[in-house]
Amino acid sequence: MSSEALAKLVQEQIRVEKNFVLDIDKQIEGIHNVAAKLLLMETKMDSQKHAMILEGILKVITSKNARPLWDTLQDTYVDKLVVKKNLENHMKTEIAMLGLIEKEMKGTEDEGIRLLLEHIANDEKKHHQILETVVRQAYKIKP
Ligand SMILES: [Fe+2]
Ligand SMILES: [Fe+2]
Repeated sequence: MSSEALAKLVQEQIRVEKNFVLDIDKQIEGIHNVAAKLLLMETKMDSQKHAMILEGILKVITSKNARPLWDTLQDTYVDKLVVKKNLENHMKTEIAMLGLIEKEMKGTEDEGIRLLLEHIANDEKKHHQILETVVRQAYKIKP
């Protein structure tokens, strides 16, 4: 696929994600089940998140001298080793959050609450993986 065609698809998806956010905003007031409301709110925030990520992707693929994403460096005065250290600390925090959620899940018999907690636990596992990938790829020591 040409990068122009890909950019078109990404633009279309950004439009769909943003419209979805507006739609949910309109509907959410009328929804009275608390669990349904929480999950719809999450879907909305995920759509906002997807739109932001897609906008970043669009920037990379439409830039003049487009390069693979992991190779796009940002000029910065921030010490990369400090950033890496901070990211590694965030990974520890994610593990701590996961530990808390697992205890909370054991502490309740409420099926609905357990479902929501499990949902968060899956997010934390995903966040941990993402941080691991960022540390490995974006802060790898280049020869
Ligand atoms: Fe999405
Ligand atoms: Fe997290």
